[in-house]
Amino acid sequence: MPTHQSLSGTSDDALLQRMVKTHPERYGDAYWKFFDEHVAPYLPSRPTMIDLGCGPGLFLRDLGQRHPQATLYGYDVTPAMIAHGQQLPPTGANTTLAVHDVAAQPLPHAAGSIHLLSMSSVLHIIDEPWPVLAEIRRVLTTGGIFLLNDWVRQPLETYLAWRRDVMGESEAESQRRGFRLFPVHNKYTPEDWRWLLAKAGFAIRHEAELRASHRIFVTTPSG
Ligand SMILES: C[S@@+](CC[C@H](N)C(=O)[O-])C[C@H]1O[C@@H](n2cnc3c(N)ncnc32)[C@H](O)[C@@H]1O
Repeated sequence: MPTHQSLSGTSDDALLQRMVKTHPERYGDAYWKFFDEHVAPYLPSRPTMIDLGCGPGLFLRDLGQRHPQATLYGYDVTPAMIAHGQQLPPTGANTTLAVHDVAAQPLPHAAGSIHLLSMSSVLHIIDEPWPVLAEIRRVLTTGGIFLLNDWVRQPLETYLAWRRDVMGESEAESQRRGFRLFPVHNKYTPEDWRWLLAKAGFAIRHEAELRASHRIFVTTPSG
């Protein structure tokens, strides 16, 4: 099965460095304002939370600093990502990071035990989303939150310009990487995401476009 890395032509280390470099802009003030308004009010005082496809672990670190009473889990299929997260300074929160392929293994958590599961720029990579979405639904508490933040389809011209102007790629690099990654990043429209979520048994409580390339959905198991 092709991996994200093989599709993007990016080594594990290069993807790791890119994730670390772009973290502050991806998880800046707008993100945390959204989180504090639309996610935090649904969490208990000592929540258990998962970041699925956690990359270098920086979102979990930020979450642990903001919610020191939390128990946090980060899972990623790439060992280098988990190794990076494990060497970050501890926060107040009790944090566990582990290598885990969500497309191949069930989550190591009991049904109804997780208050928030976040998945950011990961679900578009998964070939078959249904089993993963069913597994997320299984582990969430009643009223728990599945926070899906992922790429939405853009016109080719807009996407290539975005890589150049926002990602800071050179013209040559934005063309080279842009054409290779266009089908990966431009797989789903916002309507596709809404349809997928509804079919998988999630009701959308709120959604927003914090960055032109992405849409974020605050959802909860329906019914
Ligand atoms: C674009 S990065 C996003 C990382 C992080 N969520 C962030 O926003 O910084 C996608 C991550 O998904 C991970 N990933 C891809 N397929 C996966 C799978 N089947 N199970 C777990 N993690 C996966 C990759 O290793 C990579 O770290």
